[in-house]
Amino acid sequence: MENAIECRHITKVFGKIVANKDVSMDIRHGEILSLLGENGSGKTTLMNMISGIYFPDSGEILVNGKPVEIRDPGDAYKLGIAMVHQHFKLIDVFTALENIALGLNDGKKIRSEEDQGRRAEDLRPL
Ligand SMILES: Nc1ncnc2c1ncn2[C@@H]1O[C@H](COP(=O)(O)OP(=O)(O)OP(=O)(O)O)[C@@H](O)[C@H]1O
Ligand SMILES: [Mg+2]
Repeated sequence: MENAIECRHITKVFGKIVANKDVSMDIRHGEILSLLGENGSGKTTLMNMISGIYFPDSGEILVNGKPVEIRDPGDAYKLGIAMVHQHFKLIDVFTALENIALGLNDGKKIRSEEDQGRRAEDLRPL
């Protein structure tokens, strides 16, 4: 069976800093894999490329054995890849309700009291 995710010879550079240099990694289906390394060794950078925050300078990523282009978190999501960030940065500061509603329906921003009431109704069956 093909691997769930494969990174092949991934390199990512930020200015003069080589964050990832020729990194290859296989993640099998059903595997829980820990990536260990000292601070600044490039763990988050690699995960950011799998989840569409950054794009590799070179190398390729395969999902279920097929080469993929993960250009943004939406692409990653469609491939079944999601990231729980150590530092929150994808979204603005949200209320508890907004956080719960984030993945519901059309993903529209909800800010108004009226909207929040409507979303609360949406959440009731959950
Ligand atoms: N957006 C960026 N711009 C410039 N340099 C960056 C950026 N992101 C990461 N780096 C640098 O790339 C290197 C790898 O950082 P990264 O955050 O991937 O390491 P890490 O293994 O996740 O570290 P930690 O254990 O502290 O979370 C570091 O030298 C870091 O300063
Ligand atoms: Mg990190």
